[in-house]
Amino acid sequence: MADGFAQSVKQQADIVRVIGEYVRLTKAGAQSFKGLCPFHKEKTPSFNVQAAQQFFHCFGCGQSGDVFTFVQKMENVGFPEAVRTVAQKCGIPLPKREFSSPEEAQASRLRSRLLEIHEQACGYFEEQLQSPEAARAREYLTSRGVTAEAIAAFRIGYAPDSYSTMRDRFQSSFDEETMRASGLFSSKEQNDGAVGPLYARFRKRITFPIRNEAGRVIAFTARALDNDEKAGPKYLNSPETPLYTKGHVLFNLDKAKQSIRQFEFALLVEGQMDCISVYMAGITNVLATSGTAFTEAQVRLLARHTRQVVVNFDPDTAGANAAEKSIALLIEEGFSVKVVTLDGGLDPDRYVRERGTPAYIAALRSARRHSDYLIDRARTLFPPVTPDAKVKALNFLLPHMQHIPSRIARDEFAADAAQKLAIDSALLRQELKQAAFARRADVSSKAAAAPALSEAEKLLLRALTLPAGDAARELARKRLAQEPALYEGLAASSLLSAFVAAETISNPFDLAPDEASRHWLAAVLLHSSQEIQPEQVEDAFHSLRHSRLERRQRELRRQLAEAEQRGDATSVQELMTEKMTLDRALREN
Ligand code: GTP
Ligand code: MN
Repeated sequence: MADGFAQSVKQQADIVRVIGEYVRLTKAGAQSFKGLCPFHKEKTPSFNVQAAQQFFHCFGCGQSGDVFTFVQKMENVGFPEAVRTVAQKCGIPLPKREFSSPEEAQASRLRSRLLEIHEQACGYFEEQLQSPEAARAREYLTSRGVTAEAIAAFRIGYAPDSYSTMRDRFQSSFDEETMRASGLFSSKEQNDGAVGPLYARFRKRITFPIRNEAGRVIAFTARALDNDEKAGPKYLNSPETPLYTKGHVLFNLDKAKQSIRQFEFALLVEGQMDCISVYMAGITNVLATSGTAFTEAQVRLLARHTRQVVVNFDPDTAGANAAEKSIALLIEEGFSVKVVTLDGGLDPDRYVRERGTPAYIAALRSARRHSDYLIDRARTLFPPVTPDAKVKALNFLLPHMQHIPSRIARDEFAADAAQKLAIDSALLRQELKQAAFARRADVSSKAAAAPALSEAEKLLLRALTLPAGDAARELARKRLAQEPALYEGLAASSLLSAFVAAETISNPFDLAPDEASRHWLAAVLLHSSQEIQPEQVEDAFHSLRHSRLERRQRELRRQLAEAEQRGDATSVQELMTEKMTLDRALREN
């Protein structure tokens, strides 16, 4: 991008207006504004914007720069992208883009055609909602309290009950590649393997556009009108496309971001219908996760606007599970999280409509700290009346406690939990420490769980991994084949028998039947480079025989004691004879 263009954008752009979209600024002087710094956590504003000199500076964290630097940091983009963004925000037409490669140019062309087809599709669905066929859809929306105003604001539409109408309409304006890539159409693979003709993906459904942060339509979610099996899933979403990655989008962020900054928190609900109802009720800082737990990408997206969240998921099991996962992720990223549970088992949509906005606002104000919510949840899941249930409740809470970055907050959580679960708080802190330790050691814990091998087994394994023809290897294989009883019942017995059976080995790990075996092999191969003498192999077998005899001796003693107790003289006689033979063998071996 030409520097001249950037200069001209900078001259025309108003830094106060651009930054004002991200940060709530108040006037501090004739030409200066201040607000809470978006680049570090603070409670009193130390972030300054100078209108005359067109730059910002934070006295708290020392970040400063011009309007482009600001957008680069906020949007996490490079300089050219920041220039384009600022130009767009200020309505300055962009010069023709230059691309570093033909692929990039092509991808960019496809993206803009995809944006275009989504915009057209959104208009098409909106128009269809007014058609005679959509009478039922309109009735349905009315019955759910969705007003004309909400329909217009959220651009709700209707996808007609036809495979071909939309395709036929769009074919004249868009090429096949764009239509296929858009995810708005599907096709079936035919018997000869060729792709079949396109048909409309969304049919007989109410459509809700999914928009990116800039408000462009990038995908749809569509609700079935009927709830019989033939109608398919209740909600059908666009597939992933070059425009749309599930889990990277927050429904309604485009409309909510302004008030999220104003209210200084975001309200998080599950469903888009919840989101629409709550938004139309005037609580405009609301976002929907669309029925899943929060993803890391969504947390990062949200962190650009606020670090305070009120979670109001459905009270059903799925909702509670999604809430727990989302809370964990948000807490880990340093968010402050509160949780609302609505009474009557209602979701936000129904609560707002049945109880009214003031009641809903009251519920939001009574949001509990996430720790209180989780402790209550633990108490519901595992009523802490028995020691066993207390342990379970504790195990449910420990991972959540560990996620808290601040030690003070973590200790407070632990103290509350101890009190409410009636657990000794010193004990709980000890558990917390141990859990943290176990987490650190987790990487090696699986391997450590594998029983240790005797020195003889280790030596044999080492010998067996030597190249075919090596004297020690061949001796080991011969002996093991002759005396399979020697390694029967040993920890590594299946691994050893695999080696006996294998003539040549290209990769010894191919022979390892389980994780413990792979661990042993790795340990053995890592710790030795010396060659092995055949005598060492003989010594190993000697030692295997010896320990086998010892095992048998212990077994005999047990059997003898039993036979004596039963008064079984015959057995005692037989066992004594065997024991004498064994004792002799052990002395000689
Ligand atoms: P309504 O019945 O229209 O009020 O939906 P809801 O928002 O109450 O839906 P529900 O509580 O059942 O689910 C919450 C969210 O999960 C929905 O808003 C959707 O985003 C998502 N969801 C629900 N059902 C499906 C489905 O069948 N498929 C997909 N992909 N998502 C779904
Ligand atoms: Mn719901």
